Amino acid sequence: MKIILLGPPGAGKGTQAVMLVEKFGIPQISTGDMLRAAVRDKSPMGLKAKEYMDAGGLVPDEVVVGIVRERLQLDDCANGFILDGFPRTVPQADALKLVLSDLGKDLDAVISLTVDTEALVERLTGRRTCSACGKGFHLSFDPPAEDGSCSACGGELTQRADDQEATIRNRLDVYLAQTAPLEDYYQRAGLLKAVDGMQSMQTVQEAIQAILQDA
Ligand code: AP5
Ligand code: MG
Repeated sequence: MKIILLGPPGAGKGTQAVMLVEKFGIPQISTGDMLRAAVRDKSPMGLKAKEYMDAGGLVPDEVVVGIVRERLQLDDCANGFILDGFPRTVPQADALKLVLSDLGKDLDAVISLTVDTEALVERLTGRRTCSACGKGFHLSFDPPAEDGSCSACGGELTQRADDQEATIRNRLDVYLAQTAPLEDYYQRAGLLKAVDGMQSMQTVQEAIQAILQDA
């Protein structure tokens, strides 16, 4: 199963990817998570990426394409992968096509999660993430059992630096300008499957699994 989860910030790509990892045992490849890890490690790439991420803009294509190219060659991708947050521009999608063709692989489906703008803002302002295990929560829609601590490991819950409302609005504008054209791109390739992301997390997951059964 080789799939892309496409959708605006807060659409639920990460949430759904984690559920798909459990179901299919294939890795989630989140360029956002990989870039945040590089920022935490203060690697040269992380230091370069940080300024783009803090402003809600996109990290240059050549940086993310390089990361994904290396990641897709690892053994755990042999039976498939879930791309979460990549590609995000037409040049990234073109580069992915080349990388996959070099590896002798084809995409099975591109799942596009659609969610209303105001719901996206509400989801992102209420999102919290465990600083120890990375598990995601939402203060209203998926709250932790105890305020401020992770229900899975007890770690401290933190808010992402780019989840402030002004930055969120910028990320949404960037999505419309640079990433939304990929819906047409993959529609033309016959791969696009739209899923109503306004439904509950579980219902969205069931819709995705139903699509993947036929892909
Ligand atoms: P990235 O980490 O990819 O962020 P994003 O695309 O902005 O998406 P999010 O992670 O914010 O949202 P999500 O769709 O994963 O939603 P989630 O499941 O968490 O990228 C961050 C930055 O890195 C970019 O801005 C850019 O700078 C850089 N970057 C990354 N990739 C790049 C690339 N390819 N090229 C260039 N730059 C790149 O859900 C959100 C919240 O809603 C959670 O709290 C969750 O609990 C809740 N929720 C989820 N589903 C539901 C539901 N069905 N109902 C109610 N609540 C829900
Ligand atoms: Mg995410």
